[in-house]
Amino acid sequence: MGKDVIVALDFSRAEEVFAFLDKFESESKKPFVKIGMELFYSQGADMVRAIKARGHKIFLDLKLHDIPNTVKKSMAVLSSLDVDICNLHAGGGIAMMKAALEGLTREDGSRPLLIAVTQLTSTSEQVMKEELWIDKPIDLTVMHYASNAAQAGLDGVVCSPLEAGKVHSECGKNFLTVTPGVRFDDASKGDQVRVTTPARAKELGSDYIVVGRPVTAADDPVAAYRRCVGEFVD
Ligand code: C5P
Repeated sequence: MGKDVIVALDFSRAEEVFAFLDKFESESKKPFVKIGMELFYSQGADMVRAIKARGHKIFLDLKLHDIPNTVKKSMAVLSSLDVDICNLHAGGGIAMMKAALEGLTREDGSRPLLIAVTQLTSTSEQVMKEELWIDKPIDLTVMHYASNAAQAGLDGVVCSPLEAGKVHSECGKNFLTVTPGVRFDDASKGDQVRVTTPARAKELGSDYIVVGRPVTAADDPVAAYRRCVGEFVD
């Protein structure tokens, strides 16, 4: 898969999702979309099937973290939904990540891509030290978790576009960087702190950008999506 823009469907009601996707009905390329916990827990697997049937690629962002056997069996269920990307927490360890890959792999050898969350961006170095008792600096921890994910055979990590170059140099240029925190240069940041434009994310080497509100809350979501694609992919 080449570079692409992934639109975060951060809605909880089916009507909101379909009203949004209907706007892209006449587009030749249907956006790659991200289904997160909010939508999955409220609407279930049927929503995944319905969006897939409309021709969208899907990143199912459920961030699994459990014992290897449970993650393996759960990933097998997600793989049967024919999604394109799944994810988990690298903090679950290398054995858990390897088990996840086994669970995802279908009988014919195909599988969705699997990427890891390293440290959540909401976790500060202070929280790591005082609550989690992790004494190493946060940037080293993020890179160590990324290299654990690469060692386990995963396809990439979720990270900031600002970290994409470092991840590629430590884990290989084919190791995917899926990067949220994207804003147009003429728009508000919302609650994101470290943001880059789609064009800058491309320069920094991101493989996929994950864009939510700049598209979903735009007056013209199709135009905003096309602008992202124009800056990041074309
Ligand atoms: O609306 P916005 O563009 O900020 O949405 C970004 C999406 O990426 C949301 O679904 C958010 O949960 C997700 N995300 C993030 N930062 C991370 C990991 C995921 O913004 N570090």
